[in-house]
Amino acid sequence: MRLDGRVAVITGGGSGIGAATARAFTREGARVVIADIDADAGTAVADELRAGGATIDFVHADAAEPAALERLVAFAVDTHSTLDVLHNNHVAFESGRVGDLTLDGFRRSLDVGLTSYWYATKLALVPMLAQGRGSIVNTASVSGLAGDFGLGAYNVLKAGVVNLSRVTGIEYARKGVRCNAVCPGPIGTPPIDRLHEAAPQIWSDIRDAIPMGRYGRAEEIANVVLFLASDESAFVTGTHVVADGGLWAHSGMPPIGGLGPDF
Ligand SMILES: NC(=O)c1ccc[n+]([C@@H]2O[C@H](COP(=O)([O-])OP(=O)(O)OC[C@H]3O[C@@H](n4cnc5c(N)ncnc54)[C@H](O)[C@@H]3O)[C@@H](O)[C@H]2O)c1
Repeated sequence: MRLDGRVAVITGGGSGIGAATARAFTREGARVVIADIDADAGTAVADELRAGGATIDFVHADAAEPAALERLVAFAVDTHSTLDVLHNNHVAFESGRVGDLTLDGFRRSLDVGLTSYWYATKLALVPMLAQGRGSIVNTASVSGLAGDFGLGAYNVLKAGVVNLSRVTGIEYARKGVRCNAVCPGPIGTPPIDRLHEAAPQIWSDIRDAIPMGRYGRAEEIANVVLFLASDESAFVTGTHVVADGGLWAHSGMPPIGGLGPDF
């Protein structure tokens, strides 16, 4: 098994990509602690996987609260005596054009989506450096590599996650701790499902903009996280892996001379 006996913490593990990663990690033999601000969702994922034989706990935590992250990492280390993998994955942010964002909303977005990733990293580094081994995998986004209309706060925080992954990767490269980011494109998780219900046209416009012509699945991102968490990626650090059906590879130019994705 690819994570046999490893201890992993996953934030935002109650839904979408985090829940899919919890499934992948436990399937590959990891002992997992998931955290989420949504107690019902996190409990349901942990109960489901435990019923299937997995070693998994749920910790109710608002990852934007430093004390909650301290409790989370302490729980994992106290319960399993170590911490091998941290998957920072939760997010919440304010939408709107740059000129329309609020000061509180922008600050809160960075607190929840970026500062908490750094603080969890700082906490996880203590047991990881003590044992000389660890892998930190941050969920960034293609939205951290380019801009999206109306998602300025998200673009800024995800760009920060990409560079946090770089600097963490280089600073601890000789200490046995790796750090990388995964940059998903649009994935069929609950936020995208809600968009589908609220604005079907935008949903299908996004799908059509993806060269593969479909949304990704949470499991397809979990597979990338699994690779980055495991020893299979032993020489990979300080970088990001894009998994987006080709979205980011496209310059944004409209089809010229009738040559589109179906040509
Ligand atoms: N779905 C996509 O299209 C997509 C694309 C690129 C990147 N991502 C990134 O993937 C990650 C997971 O997104 P998802 O699509 O699975 O979303 P999701 O809503 O299905 O899951 C996110 C989870 O994070 C939890 N959460 C939110 N705020 C929290 C907080 N303060 N503390 C603890 N938990 C909190 C939510 O309760 C939820 O369970 C996010 O970082 C998101 O930016 C998603």
